[in-house]
Amino acid sequence: MKAAILYKANTPLEVVDVQQQGAQTGEARVRVKAAGVCHSDWHIMNGDWTLPLPMVLGHEAAGIVEDVGAGVTNVKPGDHVIFSFRPQCGRCLYCSIGRSILCDGHQTARWMMLDGTCRLKRDGQDIFQMARIGTFAESVVCPAEMLVPIRKEMPWPQAALMGCCVPTGVGAVTRCAQVEAGASVVVIGCGGVGLNVVQGARLAGARLIVACDLLDNKLEYAREFGATHTINASRQNVVDTVRGLTGGRGADYAFDAIGGEATTLQILDSIRPGGTAVIVGMAAMNVRAPITPYMMALQEKTIRGTMYGSVRPNIDFPRLVDLYLDGRLKIDQLVSRTYRLEEINEGFTALRTGQVARGVVVF
Ligand SMILES: NC(=O)c1ccc[n+]([C@@H]2O[C@H](COP(=O)([O-])OP(=O)(O)OC[C@H]3O[C@@H](n4cnc5c(N)ncnc54)[C@H](O)[C@@H]3O)[C@@H](O)[C@H]2O)c1
Ligand SMILES: [Zn+2]
Ligand SMILES: [Zn+2]
Repeated sequence: MKAAILYKANTPLEVVDVQQQGAQTGEARVRVKAAGVCHSDWHIMNGDWTLPLPMVLGHEAAGIVEDVGAGVTNVKPGDHVIFSFRPQCGRCLYCSIGRSILCDGHQTARWMMLDGTCRLKRDGQDIFQMARIGTFAESVVCPAEMLVPIRKEMPWPQAALMGCCVPTGVGAVTRCAQVEAGASVVVIGCGGVGLNVVQGARLAGARLIVACDLLDNKLEYAREFGATHTINASRQNVVDTVRGLTGGRGADYAFDAIGGEATTLQILDSIRPGGTAVIVGMAAMNVRAPITPYMMALQEKTIRGTMYGSVRPNIDFPRLVDLYLDGRLKIDQLVSRTYRLEEINEGFTALRTGQVARGVVVF
């Protein structure tokens, strides 16, 4: 079985043969059909996020269940599934209140199986799996709770994107911020995640959707996904331009789909008094941002974070699939380029240089 492994930060992924142990109790083995190239993988590759290595990266994917271990009831061989990169034990406080993205019911490290062992080995060494899945691989053994069955009409590259950028971006708008029809929305960063914030705002009926990026080709995509206005942040001041478009007041909502000090402050400065700023993009682990507490109080601003768009995978992934199949979500337009697993490092070059909306490894 071939998989793309990161052995050391700031080195390319190595596509190599690994030994895979079969599905144990509560686990399933999935033949991966497509896996998206997301900036979160890049955060591990470039050392922004320090995680134990070697690790198979990849967390935005879909595939077919091949076999299941004892006690698995939520999926069966032949099912088409989207991988969820968060656990859902079903019993902890967060699972019980419908916020399974925050599930804390498992005690083992998030790059090993729930029993604390690994399913992958190479040259006698354990290989970790990103988020317990690690989908840049021909085959994945993972806890069955991380698999969500979907309609079989869903095409594979599009299904893969339902595993991260689509729910994250759309959910940030509809589940986390709960943007209402007629609202004004700013989105900073128009990669796979930001473009889905843009189309989430369109779905929610926002009146004004202002998309910001440093690259004109990304702003072109943003217009296609529903942006009413665009700002090239390399030439224009984001906060001043947003104020100009909103009668001097600021927007009702602003989303940071990049992550970092500067963009956290930009979303806070772009919203009106009483508005909501949402952090969707994920900064390097050690970044802090100096907010102004006086203005937060005086202007009653809200700042929130969202993980995975605060979705409920079992309910929301199939709903998003229905929306796509009904023609109401643009996902074909996200898949700008496809790769073979052996070409995965080209996928990260295209991500870093902003050439694509999303690149997808197709198996
Ligand atoms: N919260 C979550 O659950 C979650 C899920 C997935 C991804 N993420 C995070 O979201 C972020 C975006 O991911 P992605 O895959 O869309 O990335 P991406 O690389 O595809 O897109 C980032 C975009 O931001 C633009 N950009 C960079 N700096 C900018 C600046 N200063 N001003 C304006 N635009 C700028 C780039 O040109 C690019 O278009 C990453 O940090 C990723 O880790 C978070
Ligand atoms: Zn992702
Ligand atoms: Zn739980």
